[in-house]
Amino acid sequence: MNSSRRQFLSILGGTAAAAALGGGNALAAAKDDSFEFLFVTDTHLQPELNATQGCDMAFKKARAMKMDFALQGGDHVYDTMKVSKERAVSLFDLYGKTEQDLGMKVYHTCGNHDCFGISSKGSTPQGDQLYGKKMFEEHFGRAYYSFDHKGVHFLVLDSVLPATDQTGYSGHIDETQLAWIADDLGKIGAGVPVIVSTHIPLVTAIDSYVKLPANHRSGRGGTSIDNSEQVIAIFDKHNVIGVLQGHTHIWETVTWRGVPYTTGGAVSGNWWKGTHLGTPEGFTVVKVADGKMITRYETYGFQSVAPENT
Ligand SMILES: [Fe+2]
Repeated sequence: MNSSRRQFLSILGGTAAAAALGGGNALAAAKDDSFEFLFVTDTHLQPELNATQGCDMAFKKARAMKMDFALQGGDHVYDTMKVSKERAVSLFDLYGKTEQDLGMKVYHTCGNHDCFGISSKGSTPQGDQLYGKKMFEEHFGRAYYSFDHKGVHFLVLDSVLPATDQTGYSGHIDETQLAWIADDLGKIGAGVPVIVSTHIPLVTAIDSYVKLPANHRSGRGGTSIDNSEQVIAIFDKHNVIGVLQGHTHIWETVTWRGVPYTTGGAVSGNWWKGTHLGTPEGFTVVKVADGKMITRYETYGFQSVAPENT
C-alpha cells in the first residue's frame, strides 16, 4: 500500500469514528469531564465486632474501583465523645492505618463521634489540647473547607455544635460558618456546580420512616441541622447539584428544589451489627456528569458477628 492510500484510509477511519459518535458528539466526547468519586461515611472504627476487618474489606473493594478520590462523611471512629484520651487516640491511630487501604486521596468531614470528650460530662478537661474537634483537626486538618475537582466546587461543612456543658451536641451551622459559606460560594463563577458534604443531614425524612424511642435524639438538632433553612437559603443563590450526608446510617435521597440530599448509608451498617433500617454495610459511588450528581450504593459482603438487624 502506498503512503497516500494509507493516509486516505487513516483519514477515513477518523471520519468513520466521528460519524459513529454522531458528528458533533465526537467533540463533546473529547471534552467529557464526567468523573466518579466515593462518599464513604460512618466507618465507626473500633477494635471490637470485627470492625477493622470490615473497614479493610470495604476500603479494599473501594480501592479496586479506581475512583478519582474519596470523601469521608464523618464518624470515622466509635467513639471519642465519652471515652478516655488513651482510647480516643488509639482509635484515630487505628483509623489512620486502616484508611491507607483506600489508596487514594481522602477528604474528611467531621462527625459527632469524632469530637473528643464532648459527652464526657466533665471527665475530660475542656482545656485538653485535643479536646473537641482539635483531635480531628490534628489528624485531618480544618473541620470546614472547600476544594475544586474537574470544574466542580466541593464544600465540606462542620455540622456538629458541641454543648458547652459536655452533654453532647446539636446539628447546627454557626454564624461564622454561615458567613464563610456565603463568602466561599460568592467567590466562584456563576453556574459553577457545587457538591456539599455534611455529617449531620441538612435534609432528611428519617423521622417519617420509623417511630424513634422517646429518648432518641430525633428531630432537628438530633437527626438534622437545626438551622438548615439558613444554609439552604444560601444554596438557593448558587448551582448546588447535590448534598452528601451521613449520621443516620440509612440510604436515602430527598430532593428539595431539584437538589438531591443523599444520605450515604454507613460502612458500619447498624454500628457493625448488621443492617440499619434495611440499609446494609456499604458506601456510595458518586458520578458527576452533564451537571448532575448521580449516586449508587455498594455493599461489600461483611457478615456481623453480632447481628441485630433493623
Ligand atoms: Fe454514625
